[in-house]
Amino acid sequence: MVEEVDQPTAVSASMVAASRSGLGPMPIDQVPADEWVATSTGIDELDRVLGGGLVPGSVTLVGGEPGIGKSTLLLQAAAARAAAGDRVLYVSAEESRQQVRLRAGRLATLDPDLWLVAETGLPVVLADLAQVDPALVIIDSVQALADPALSSAPGSVAQVRHVAAQLVAEAKRRGVAVVLVGHVTKDGSLAGPRVLEHVVDTVCTFEGERHHALRMLRAVKHRFGPTHELGLFQMTGKGLLGVPDPSGLFLSDRRRGVPGSVVVPTLDGSRPLLVEIQALVTGSELGNPRRSAQGVDSGRLNMILAVLEERAGISVAKHDVYALAAGGLRVTEPGADLALALAVVSSATDTPVAEGVVVCAELGLGGELRQVSRLDRRLAEAARLGFTTALVAPDGPAAPPGLRCASAATLAEAVRLCHGGGLGRPLVAAV
Ligand code: TYD
Ligand code: MG
Repeated sequence: MVEEVDQPTAVSASMVAASRSGLGPMPIDQVPADEWVATSTGIDELDRVLGGGLVPGSVTLVGGEPGIGKSTLLLQAAAARAAAGDRVLYVSAEESRQQVRLRAGRLATLDPDLWLVAETGLPVVLADLAQVDPALVIIDSVQALADPALSSAPGSVAQVRHVAAQLVAEAKRRGVAVVLVGHVTKDGSLAGPRVLEHVVDTVCTFEGERHHALRMLRAVKHRFGPTHELGLFQMTGKGLLGVPDPSGLFLSDRRRGVPGSVVVPTLDGSRPLLVEIQALVTGSELGNPRRSAQGVDSGRLNMILAVLEERAGISVAKHDVYALAAGGLRVTEPGADLALALAVVSSATDTPVAEGVVVCAELGLGGELRQVSRLDRRLAEAARLGFTTALVAPDGPAAPPGLRCASAATLAEAVRLCHGGGLGRPLVAAV
């Protein structure tokens, strides 16, 4: 329960005029259309997610768990924008100016167009905004900012909402792009970002496994472009670096000819990613064998094991099964079903899947294989990385040059294609 104090205000005509953020009503064909033009942030992967860059007058919320790299990303973006000649104001409400300056010095060259203030009071920040008159403002973080006029504690729902509303109004009035950093609590949602999602124009989430260098940026709401575009970064000693060729990165550590390893071309946003799915099947001492899934959906894994047993006659009921997506990635789409199933079969039979094979299909409970979306893009990416054979569901698109498509209507057929009926004979090479 959060107490909210009602503060009634009388509305006069002059206040209406002062609070008007645009020109008033006008016929739609007379509204200028060129107002919303995105300006590049200077960071390619960020631009990709934002559909080109930040729009003046827009408010973008970047949410993520503490320590994931939000401050690093936005400081880099601020520095890049300043280097391009625009004035940027970085409001640090959590760290001191010295801390931010030290970090900025390590990440980029210090540009005099990047202005820095360490401040937690909203009125002061608004005054600073008027004084500096930047093209871009970064607020790090919105939860740490508060308006002393409100009695609620900093970080409370009332404060966060109020601070964000004020900043949104200011952004529209001045035509300045505002980026708000919002912390997401450990359980995935809550406090800051959730209550702001409808107030801002764009919501991005920044995620990653703490023990991996990989970081993923996604737009979950975007008024100026597509959502669900994926931006990929690696956290390095020199800050965040974009990953232009993720498939190459995810497959670079792959050992060839190992049982239990299958490559699947997944699609994230419009971006095809080749990911290695691994499975390990071992005899279990336990009455209730272990099922472990990392980076793949555990419910999906259990379903696939059931379908394998019922529809393809391959039982791992007395075995522990471990499955994972390599590289710290999360693969949740059903297009990875067949890869997961074949990885399990490959490990259970100790037979590696042939070189140069990718597999991609959704699995139904009847053991049937189904087409996945945008298979043409996925196959093109597989061909680009030198894969030669794709095992897919029937009636797929034409294979791109350099790639052969083998199709299977059922899981049992896919297993036969892959494992030649017997256990020892390697597979799709013979298709
Ligand atoms: P930070 O941007 O402070 O995270 P957030 O603002 O989301 O809380 O980043 C914190 C982590 O990033 C910290 O654990 C150290 C790591 N890091 C690097 O590995 N390299 C770097 O160059 C920087 C600046 C940070
Ligand atoms: Mg931070």
